[in-house]
Formats: sequence, C-alpha cells, structure tokens
Amino acid sequence: MCGIFAYKGEKTNAAELVINGLKKLEYRGYDSWGVAFKTDHKISIHKEVGKIGEFDVSTLREKMNVPIESQMAMGHSRWATHGGVTKANAHPHYSQDESIAIVHNGIIENFAELKKELQGKGYEFRSETDTEVVAHLIQEYKSLGHVEAIKKALSRLQGRYAILVLCAEDNRLIAARRGSPLIIGKGEKEFFIASDIPAFLEYTRKVMYLDDDQMVIINDDAQFFDLKTNKKIEKRIVEIDWNPESAEKGEFSHFMIKEITEQKETITRAINQDETKLMKIADEIKNAYGTYLVGCGTAGKVCLTASYLFAKIAKRHVNVAFGSEFPSLQDFITDRSLVIAVSQSGETADTLEAIEVAKKKGAKVLSIINVEGSSMDRISDYSINIKAGPEKAVASTKATTAQIAILTLLAYALDKRLEEGKILLVNTASQINDMLNPRYEEHILQLAQKIQDVESMYVIGKGVNYPIALEAAIKLQEVSYIHAEGFAGGELKHGPIALIHEGVPCIAIVANDETKHEIISNAMEVKARGGYIIGISPESNDVFDYWIKVPEVGAASPIVNIIPIQILAYQLAVLRKNNPDMPRNLAKSVTVK
Ligand code: G6P
Repeated sequence: MCGIFAYKGEKTNAAELVINGLKKLEYRGYDSWGVAFKTDHKISIHKEVGKIGEFDVSTLREKMNVPIESQMAMGHSRWATHGGVTKANAHPHYSQDESIAIVHNGIIENFAELKKELQGKGYEFRSETDTEVVAHLIQEYKSLGHVEAIKKALSRLQGRYAILVLCAEDNRLIAARRGSPLIIGKGEKEFFIASDIPAFLEYTRKVMYLDDDQMVIINDDAQFFDLKTNKKIEKRIVEIDWNPESAEKGEFSHFMIKEITEQKETITRAINQDETKLMKIADEIKNAYGTYLVGCGTAGKVCLTASYLFAKIAKRHVNVAFGSEFPSLQDFITDRSLVIAVSQSGETADTLEAIEVAKKKGAKVLSIINVEGSSMDRISDYSINIKAGPEKAVASTKATTAQIAILTLLAYALDKRLEEGKILLVNTASQINDMLNPRYEEHILQLAQKIQDVESMYVIGKGVNYPIALEAAIKLQEVSYIHAEGFAGGELKHGPIALIHEGVPCIAIVANDETKHEIISNAMEVKARGGYIIGISPESNDVFDYWIKVPEVGAASPIVNIIPIQILAYQLAVLRKNNPDMPRNLAKSVTVK
C-alpha cells in the first residue's frame, strides 16, 4: 500500500530513475504520485494526480522548469488514507521551511494531536494528510541536527510507518520503519530504498532488509541503527533470485493474464520443497493444541480452503480467521498453539498484527509467503516460500494456487502420505499446462461476451470448493466490478435464492467428489428460477447452460477450479474497459489497518 522508491548514487538522473522505478511499484497504490530531488541546497518536488504509469518521464524537465540533474531523489505512489486524492495530498511533503521533504507509507495514528500542537506553534498545513506532521516535526527539532531531529520526531509517532527523508542541507538519505516495509538495494557505488524489490531489480539483486524500529543512513555506505537502543547494527546482504524479466509484462497485455498463464509452471515450483522441513512442520501441526490459519482477502479464502483440505485429507481440525478478526480470538491462543499465516506479500498489516498477537502469547508461527525476506518471513519460526515469482496484478492468481498447492501438500504430509500428495500435485500441474491454451481462453471469452453487461452474478460450491466460490466472487468483484457473491450451495435455499431471477448467471463449481450430487441439485434449484448456469466441472451435465471443463484431479480440485474463473474475471474486466492490473480503490499490499 503506497509505493516508495529512492535513489542515491553517482547517476545524475535520480529523479527520472525514481519515477521509472516507482512505475514498477504502481500496483501498491495508484491514485497520485510525486517525486522530490535534491540539487545543491534545495529540494524540488513535482506531484501529479493519476497513475504514474501514464507519465512520460521525458516531460519532467519541461513541466518543472528547473534543472533536474540530481544524484539523490525519492518518490511515492499513493493509495489515499487521510485526505482525498489531490495534488496537495500527494507525497512528498515539505516541512514549513521547505528544507525537509518526506514520503511515508502507513498511518500516523496520533497525527491529529500533533497537528494541533504544531499549528499552535505557527506551522501551516498544506495538505489533509497524516504525513505532513512528520515533516514539520522534523523541522521543529532541526537544531538537534538532522539525524537526531528525525529520531526525536519518530519517537513521537504512534502507528505504522515507512518514512524517507531528504534534507536540503544534508547529503544523506535517511529512512526508518515501523510496520511498513522498506528494502535497501546495494549497487555499485549506489543505493536504492524501496517498499518492494521490483523497483530496483534491474539495477541490483543485493538487498538488505530494514526491520521495525530501525533507521538507515545512506551516504557512501549504508549505516543501520536500532532506534530503541541507538546502537549500530550490521546487516547481512541477501542475494535475491528473482530475475528482472519475471517482474515485467513481456508479451502480455496485462500482468493479470501473464500471472494466470504462469500457473503452467508455478505449481511445480511451489511443491518443490525440502521434505524434511515439511515433515517437521507437519509434526508441529500434529503436536499443536489448536492450529489457526490466518490471512486476508484472497489469502483468507485460501485459509478456509485449507481447513477443508486438512479435514478431508488428514482428518485434522484447524481454525480459520481473517487477519483483522484474529485479535478477537486471542484468549484461546497459548504457547501450545500454532498460527499459520498465509500471505503473498508477507507484509499485510492485519496478518502481521495477528502474528504479533500470537507471538505475545508464546504461540509458534509458520508463514506461507511469496516474498522472501518479507516481514512475515523474518518474524516467523518457520516459513515456506511458495516461489510463485513476483505477483504484480492486484488480484492474486498464481500466488493463490501455489498457496493451495503447498497447503494440500502439508495436509498429505500430516497424514504421512507426502509422496502421494506430491504425485497428485505434479499430475495437477501437468493438467493445468494442457488446459491453459488459446482455445480454452477463447471458450471463456465467448461466455464473458455473453454476460458482460449483467448486474449481478453468483457462485456456488460445496465442501472444499465452497471457499473457492468465495474466492471466485472476490476475483469477479475486484476486476470486473460486477456485483458477485459466493455461497455454499446448500445455503441458497435459506435466503440467497430470493436473488435469483430470469437470466442471472450462477457459476456452479461441481467437483467429481461426494458433493457432486448435492451441488448439481442446488444448480437445478437456481435454474428452475430462471438462473443461467455456468458449470465448472470435469464432466458436462444437463443443468449447465454453459460448461467450462476442468481436469479431473481429485483432492486438488480447488486449484484447477479457480483458474477458469480467474480468466473469466480478467476477460470481463477487459471487455468492460477496466484496468485488471489496477482495480479502483484497491492496492496489492495492504500495509495499513
Ligand atoms: C489485498 C489484495 C488482495 C490480497 C490481500 C492479502 O487486499 O488486493 O489481492 O489477497 O491484500 O494480501 P497478502 O499479500 O497478505 O496475500
């Protein structure tokens, strides 16, 4: 949520470099953006409302009408929290005397009090943001020297932040974090700071992670400090194995369809895990007094899917909670509990808070993440990397199926049938490879064309495919903006069936398992009331008005069933002229609560 990117080095086009890097983080926030750069003893800022991806960087000089050559710059792509989408609210923000500029990701919870205090001292606010208080606070303490002024200002903040500071009279780039990610990239005589790695992947794969309550001061080198103890910290340089191309669209028109297509390979990569570690984690689940799966959004639906997988494959009961709801369950968490956090980014604030709550109670934590070195990866007792590669479209696709694959494998490991699980998933991966071809997409496109103007649609599933119906509805909502809801098929008759009328599309997810007959009956009930039934199933059925075939893969059916719905959601978005990669009001990585 909000993308931050900064550069300090020998290149003299820092401002342009920062804008180009920020474009790669646009999935984190895209309502407005801005850049600040330092020349001699002055900081210049340029801000715009709209998507940074649409900005032609070669026009910066002309637009700003000042020299833009600079070796130090920082920028921000915003997802509004405090204050509307305006140029004034876009970051960076100046201090009153314009000697300091800052960008911020997170929420300063006590900003109203601080604002009042600063207004009392004569500071004038140019924006409605929570962020601007930090710039003025640093100015207020400037007599202490920049570093001490920043430390003092930070010590007064409540809430979460990743903050970068430029000072007109200082050649150092300074950053600090509490709760929101910041990663330092180390190149040849140059440094980058970003909220996510793809921003600088084309320059370096050497990274250092800033942890909570730490500060980094970048000059000719990078010096790290613990803000609580004021002590210097040595950081390990980690080499990232993502390649720059994996974070680019390539021949595809959108990241979403690229990432959907990548599912030809991602399942195989995901299940290629250290088996000894998987068995150790399976033992932790077995020995835990209460296992809690926690995630948000799509990851939350994956958690719910996993609870069915654990029940079905391993006959094991696990609890599920959305990250934001988990704190309400804390009375049940003890030092014998195990929390399994599922998150693509490893940075979602609500999931991180759940982990913090669990850790305070002494529970063990396993994270299933896609970003190595992310906050969750680093604070957990165990973590499993799903290895899906960078996922940039806001709507999660390849990470979702990779997470389900890992959790399926864990369920088999728990039942001491790891090899059987592996064989099933290898077979599933090869069937997905065959399924994802242009003919298949064309078949789904014909359906999308038929239903593109509907107002509402519904998805039903049963058993392990009930959470997939919920996930399907999220996918459709996120990118097509069609009102979509998912239900357990058996629940229809208890209320939602009142919504069905002539022509309303209803997707029925029909797996070839013990739930098949009942979900078909539910589809018939919808059809009898005029509903248009779209069947997702290995076999055709008379009740289907439109059939999308999926391979028969037994217990791995959730993985193959969600894929055609991802494609349908994507195609509906494109037909309805929405940008599937950057849906309105959403952001990829939600680092605020
Ligand atoms: C946001 C995204 C969703 C994602 C959720 C959790 O809401 O729009 O696509 O599922 O965050 O993200 P995580 O990185 O924790 O999986």
